[in-house]
Parts: sequence; structure tokens; C-alpha cells
Amino acid sequence: MEYKFTPNDNYEDFASGRVLYHVGGAPTFPVRLTLEIYERCLQYSNKKTDISLYDCCCGGAYMLTILGLLKGNTISRLYGSDIDSGSIKLAKDNLSLLTTTGIQKRRDELTTLYDTYKKDSHSQALQSIDRIEKLLSKEINTSIFHQNILELSDLPFIPDIIITDVPYGNLVEWGDGNSDINQMMDAISKVCSPETIICVCMDKKQKIQTDTDIYQRLEKQSIGKRKFEIYKLK
Ligand SMILES: C[S@@+](CC[C@H](N)C(=O)[O-])C[C@H]1O[C@@H](n2cnc3c(N)ncnc32)[C@H](O)[C@@H]1O
Repeated sequence: MEYKFTPNDNYEDFASGRVLYHVGGAPTFPVRLTLEIYERCLQYSNKKTDISLYDCCCGGAYMLTILGLLKGNTISRLYGSDIDSGSIKLAKDNLSLLTTTGIQKRRDELTTLYDTYKKDSHSQALQSIDRIEKLLSKEINTSIFHQNILELSDLPFIPDIIITDVPYGNLVEWGDGNSDINQMMDAISKVCSPETIICVCMDKKQKIQTDTDIYQRLEKQSIGKRKFEIYKLK
């Protein structure tokens, strides 16, 4: 896949575990690819600003936080849900970095770590956090909640864009033991409007059924060990 919208910049300020919170074993997603996918979804969306963005398998909300920081001028609301309570706590911590209070708390934590261990990595993180703080331009409403996506039937909001990186491989399995991505797509279809743009990132083994009356596929891309597909309702 050729990147159309996102230059090959240095994104190390956003590396997981540096300023953004990370716990061992939690999967992350490449920053450049996250930005590219969002821009592609925005191109398909009739709405270009004031976006409500939802990640229905949000994990530690790494993707949502990156998008809030780097695409915040187009986003007004970030929603994330996950089946795992540990992920929900991590997601809330990460989304707190979109506020000056959250940034100050993280800066205090990193300063204490640096004073205690004098590690280069903590000093670099303190430099990164100063640059990240400058990206906070406007307030974005955030909401993280517990939800088994396979059982989703209603939401108190209508997402303009859904971007999600579904469970795959050995690192993260489907939380209810049933790995049917098509069950997730059915559930999502009930909470979207015809305007909602949906991007699902997955490994190459997973297959979304395209011969249904529900969705039209707008795009399919392969990149490294992953693929992503973009849909809207028919
Ligand atoms: C690949 S990770 C997502 C990482 C995330 N995009 C990020 O930025 O941190 C997949 C997530 O799906 C969650 N998950 C697994 N089964 C689920 C289910 N049935 N409903 C909702 N979330 C589920 C896992 O807990 C895991 O956090």
C-alpha cells in the first residue's frame, strides 16, 4: 500500500510506553498507519469536522489517543469500548493525555522516574511530553465503556467513523471465545447511520463476508502482516 496522506515522519514521541501508557502484552498499532487510515476514512465521510470517532475494540485506546492528538482539529468526540476491564483502565489513562491535567500528571510521574533512575528514556519522554502538550488545541469529549462488541445492539451516539483493530493471533483473542468477525460486523450495522464510515483492521486470515445486503466495501488494503477494509452501509 502506498501512503497517500501521511508522510514518513518521526513519530517516536508517540511510542507506546514513552509518554503514552503501556502495559506488557497490550497490542499497539503503527502511528503512521493509524493516521493514514483515519485520513482515508475522512475522505469517504461527508462530514469533515466535528467527527464522532468510535473504536469498538479499543484496547488501551492507543489509536484513539494518537488520533486525538494529531487529528484533533477534525474530531469532537472519541468513544472506545472493550470487553476487558484492564484495557478500559489503560484506555482512560491514555485518553487523559488529551487534557492539560492528564499531561501534568504524566509529567510528574516521568519526573519522579527520572529523578529516581536517571534513565535516558525518561529524559527523552520528558522532552516528548513538552512537544505533545503543544498539540492540545481544543477540548475533545472522551468516553470509554465496557462492551462485548459481539453483543452490541444500541449506542447512545451515532459514530461518524469507526476504526477498530480486532483481536488476532496469539496476543489477543476474541473475548467470548467466538472469533466471528462477521458477528461483529452485524452488531456494528445496528448502531451506524448510512453515513458512518467503518474501517476494520485485521490479520490476513480473517475474512469479512462481502456478499451480504448490509455493507458495501469501499476499499481493501494489505500492509505487512495486516490488512484493513473500509465499509459503509448499503
Ligand atoms: C488488537 S487489540 C486493540 C488495540 C487497540 N486498537 C489500541 O489502540 O490499543 C484488540 C482488543 O479487542 C478486545 N476484545 C476481544 N474480544 C472482544 C469483544 N468480544 N468485544 C470487545 N472487545 C474485545 C481485546 O480486549 C483487545 O483489547
